[in-house]
Amino acid sequence: MAALSSPSLPAVAAAHLASWLAPLGVSASAFDDSLALINPLWTVHRLHARVVHRRAETASATTFELQAGPAFHGLQPGHHVLVGVDINGVRHRRAYSPRSVAGAPGRFAITVQRQAGGLVSNHLHDRLQVGHHVEVSPPSGAFTLPPTTPPRVLLIGGGSGITPLMAMLLHLQAHAPATRVTLVYFARSRAERIFAAQLEGLARSWPAFRYVPVDSHAHTPPSGGASFASSPVLDEALLTRMAPDWARTPTWCCGPGPLMQAARQLWEQAGQPGLLRLEAFAVARPDAAPHARHAVVLKRAAQAARFEAAGHHTLLEAGEQAGLVLKHGCRQGLCHECSCRLQRGTVRDLLHGTHVSGEGQPIRLCISSALTDLELESLG
Ligand SMILES: Cc1cc2nc3c(=O)[nH]c(=O)nc-3n(C[C@H](O)[C@H](O)[C@H](O)COP(=O)(O)OP(=O)(O)OC[C@H]3O[C@@H](n4cnc5c(N)ncnc54)[C@H](O)[C@@H]3O)c2cc1C
Ligand code: FES
Repeated sequence: MAALSSPSLPAVAAAHLASWLAPLGVSASAFDDSLALINPLWTVHRLHARVVHRRAETASATTFELQAGPAFHGLQPGHHVLVGVDINGVRHRRAYSPRSVAGAPGRFAITVQRQAGGLVSNHLHDRLQVGHHVEVSPPSGAFTLPPTTPPRVLLIGGGSGITPLMAMLLHLQAHAPATRVTLVYFARSRAERIFAAQLEGLARSWPAFRYVPVDSHAHTPPSGGASFASSPVLDEALLTRMAPDWARTPTWCCGPGPLMQAARQLWEQAGQPGLLRLEAFAVARPDAAPHARHAVVLKRAAQAARFEAAGHHTLLEAGEQAGLVLKHGCRQGLCHECSCRLQRGTVRDLLHGTHVSGEGQPIRLCISSALTDLELESLG
């Protein structure tokens, strides 16, 4: 892989200055706020980026090209960044999978798919214009390519799940073009396939790249219960036809839950679960019945709030429905803003599908649902 960028000289200097000012009572945030007044891209603790371009990819997906400051570094293909925006005076953060833009340090692009009823994705589409600034986190995540590129790579995407795979594709084309790469990309139609023209262009100009677009409703059925039994799905027959050596090929898959579930089963049946990496964009929903209710006590400083958590809600949703204002950011288990300590009871961790119980266990309200009555201590 290409060498990662390191922090630039101005970023290192600003970080040193912040540490010298700390003993004088100037907090990192206050120092950042002062820098942001001069130029938002100079901040070193809460990073920012400016929108330099935006373009429509499909009717419901838009690419925003962003310029971050010198403190933003280390972006690898497959990473995510948390993008923060204020909506009605509240800061909301969501993860997006950026790809580097060659030739400009700190320049990257995110592509955002509108989600029906979604708060942040629609806000970005409707409000975020060239010249605006957004908060960005340092890049992170484990859905990345290994340091040594394998000779063959299989990428499987569905819908907006193409974004981290596109970052990998562009990286491989630029830095390891001899890698034999197959991309199987499910979308309802070519019109809904993000980057369709760019992928077709890559397939024409890059001999080691095999592009397999699949028109299918199977993994993303529309609401209303319509049946799409005849749509192609990810199965052994399709993989054997398109990527005969699939079970021995390192594979990255990102897309809707049913697509990733199909991939997980295939690689498990092939006895090679370790060759498959998965990235979920949406956390699984709690699946207990709405009438399964548990009493929750949430302690913060000297105060205690009490609410009931229904089985089909996360603890964050349950607290909000009870009228509490609970600290949160991403609602995806990534920013840790909603962290609490379990003092009593058991929760389901929706990210990993596990149960967590026992005093002192850290949990995140946005990815936990109650399995028993609970006592929690807020860490925010
Ligand atoms: C690591 C990671 C990387 C991501 N990268 C991208 C990316 O590059 N491009 C992109 O468009 N999105 C990406 N996402 C999803 C993104 O973070 C948001 O979840 C998405 O934009 C919806 O946010 P919202 O505020 O509009 O919806 P919310 O208001 O949070 O949710 C509205 C409704 O939509 C559902 N929902 C949320 N996200 C999805 C989804 N992806 N598929 C189906 N239903 C969903 C929720 O369950 C809820 O019912 C990524 C998520 C993760 C965890
Ligand atoms: S709100 Fe980000 S981890 Fe819960």
